[in-house]
Amino acid sequence: MRRRILPAKKIGGRLQVPGDKSIAHRAAMLSLLSAGPITVRNFPDGADCRTSLRAVEKFGVRVECKDGDLVLEPPARLSIEPETIIDCGNSGTTARLLAGIVAGTDLTVILSGDESLSARPMKRIVDPLTAMGADMVDSEGHLPLKIRGSRLLPFEYHMPVASAQVKSALLLAGLASGCSVTVRESVITRNHTEIMLREIGRGVSVREIRPVLEEDPRDPRRRRTSMPEDFKREIAVSAEACVDGGHVDIPGDVSTAAFLFAAAAISGGTVTVENVGLNPTRTAFLTYLKTTGCRVETEERTVVSGEARGTVTVTGGELGARKISGETTVGLIDEIPIVAVMAARARGTTVVRDAAELRFKESDRLAAVAENLAAMGVKCGLLGDGLVIEGSDELSGADLKSFGDHRITMAFSIAALFGVGPSTIDDDSPVSISCPGFYNLVDSIVQ
Ligand code: S3P
Repeated sequence: MRRRILPAKKIGGRLQVPGDKSIAHRAAMLSLLSAGPITVRNFPDGADCRTSLRAVEKFGVRVECKDGDLVLEPPARLSIEPETIIDCGNSGTTARLLAGIVAGTDLTVILSGDESLSARPMKRIVDPLTAMGADMVDSEGHLPLKIRGSRLLPFEYHMPVASAQVKSALLLAGLASGCSVTVRESVITRNHTEIMLREIGRGVSVREIRPVLEEDPRDPRRRRTSMPEDFKREIAVSAEACVDGGHVDIPGDVSTAAFLFAAAAISGGTVTVENVGLNPTRTAFLTYLKTTGCRVETEERTVVSGEARGTVTVTGGELGARKISGETTVGLIDEIPIVAVMAARARGTTVVRDAAELRFKESDRLAAVAENLAAMGVKCGLLGDGLVIEGSDELSGADLKSFGDHRITMAFSIAALFGVGPSTIDDDSPVSISCPGFYNLVDSIVQ
């Protein structure tokens, strides 16, 4: 539906956001490999996570609501009619994690997706899974993907792209097939799979590679730090690894909270989000807020189900412009659209580099951001791997486009709050992918 958005006079409030989408997908996927039931608290109601639930149900998992929790009851043995088509909808996480699991079973299925998902790259999982011995037929590197599960071989892999979905697909393939898998990351990606396996399973280990101090060969009086390995983290599942089942409590999704924090940041208001995930692989946006000049305070910090969480309060102010590249870009991968909106209202020029991955998300997010910012009168340059955004005192109200992408829709719905005059967004429905109640949350902070 087309939505008209009026400028906000003032932003402020205290709220909660739905459960973390990445963690919820993993709880659903692990139910396929679990010996016992998995009880999940705060499972989010977005379409992507529902897609994962529908997918695991097709293999015989029973999904029930009990006392407000979701109970995922695995069957004694997974089964599915050969060549069943599983529609992964818009969800890359469903498609890639499920591909890994099926590859290590004795089942044959075909994974398909909507138009957007069918345009996203699958070679990044097909290549390493095939190297493990998986039998997969893709459609020129895309979905539909036919997977005939088989016994896989022990595998070691140094990740060529920073992707938690690829890492998780490989770890889950090892788990499904009962073979050891070691994945090495040069850039650390979100680690929810590892955490959940440790919490409700056994046989996963993580080795952090720390820099060491050594003598500088050019000057023995000096010391320098170097990395003893060419990667930063090594994650391994053993051949005996298994999932026992148990309880998973999901914190609020910090990537959803980011949109509301950005509204506080731009307006100079204060927004508090309770019970939000603070896993360090996901909090680059909070660090970014601080570097742009916002106040970020965290209270009630705890760890539940292995995941850090707390109550975060962001107070905005005059925003500074930053250069974002390398690991910072990876840490902000889902937040770049809203970072770009903040940049449009910052003092100075923001440069985002090393973000070519954004071209392969639910839309080409670099192009989508550039087009919408231009519509609002912002000077924005589109690079092959990033954006250059000139901050401006004024955003024009504009006709904005969702590009069928939930994060673009949410980012520019927030931008529209700061337009001079009304804006429209051509289709507000993509918010249902990760946060169906998004506009109610926004209404609760617009005063
Ligand atoms: C996700 C990993 C990231 C992220 C996506 C969710 C996950 O994708 O952008 O929204 O849950 O593992 P990549 O693995 O493609 O970087």
